Amino acid sequence: MLLVTGGAGYIGSHVALELRRLGRDVVIFDDLSRGHRDLAGDSVLEVGDLKDISRVREVFARYTFDGVLHFAAKSLVGESMAEPLDYYRNNLVGTTNLLAVMKEHGVGRLVFSSTAAVYGEPETVPIVENAPKKPTNVYGDTKWFIETMLQNLNRAYGLRSVSLRYFNAAGADPGGSVGEDHTPETHLIPIALDVALGKREKLMLYGSDYPTPDGTCVRDYVHVSDLAQAHVLALERLEVGKAECEAYNLGNGKGFSVLEVLEAVRRITGCPIPVESAARRAGDPAVLVASSGLAENVLGWKQEFADIDVIVKTAWEWHKARA
Ligand code: UFG
Repeated sequence: MLLVTGGAGYIGSHVALELRRLGRDVVIFDDLSRGHRDLAGDSVLEVGDLKDISRVREVFARYTFDGVLHFAAKSLVGESMAEPLDYYRNNLVGTTNLLAVMKEHGVGRLVFSSTAAVYGEPETVPIVENAPKKPTNVYGDTKWFIETMLQNLNRAYGLRSVSLRYFNAAGADPGGSVGEDHTPETHLIPIALDVALGKREKLMLYGSDYPTPDGTCVRDYVHVSDLAQAHVLALERLEVGKAECEAYNLGNGKGFSVLEVLEAVRRITGCPIPVESAARRAGDPAVLVASSGLAENVLGWKQEFADIDVIVKTAWEWHKARA
């Protein structure tokens, strides 16, 4: 039995779906603050908040878990700067409770949902795993703090973990059963698709004076189903006892500017997507592109949906159906 915290959210729901497809028994733990009950699919859903340790203990007493995949967290960069205490409490207290109860029950395998935000403004791209960790926002801070916690827990108690640092997760399950549905939505592709659906009038373009070829930010968009595969590989690596405490970047390896993404959205949707120029968004680095060589070489990760048009198309199909 596997526990997936945050399994009713965007990335967690894709991972839980992939685990179910592989015939694994999955229990989802989610407070449904940002997640959606229907995204839990056929998994058992335990509604609860990781900050409530007695609720976490109750769930661990009910099932015997072989491993945990931990997604439950607040994950909006802007919000984390406006409400830092909320982020520290939610992400750090929640995770500490989870880790404490895992220890009480002798559950020693964890796949942890980390982020490119641990690197902050990179000195060189593509970014490799041992690049300096200098988060420029509270969200990234909380994820990096947890990664260092995992190193210390490995040394002290032998907890084995794999942290996966996602770049820009995008797209939706090609089968259409799960996808991205954030409230509030802040991400580029879903906002552009809302414009295509007529739910928003235009997209605000945050900065066109970056030191990039077209002046807009370059990001590494990686398909969420490919991310899900990486979690399965990480879990298997823990299950065969190969990993102690590891971290991998997960990205496409290709950068796309905001304008290039908008072109892809126009191609796929056939809609014009009006844009209004706006000031830079605080804390947005100019270029974030991953080196994912380590995940490919060590985990054996291969992307199936690396094409930006495929990424946008799967997102578009989900968005249309959800509208
Ligand atoms: N953008 C716009 N207009 C919008 C939304 C986004 O111009 O309405 C731009 C942003 O300024 C940025 C790019 O589109 O240049 C991508 O923005 P997203 O919000 O989609 O994604 P981010 O790169 O900001 O965020 C991602 C992950 C975060 C992670 C962060 C690390 O979603 O979880 O990378 O910096 F923390």
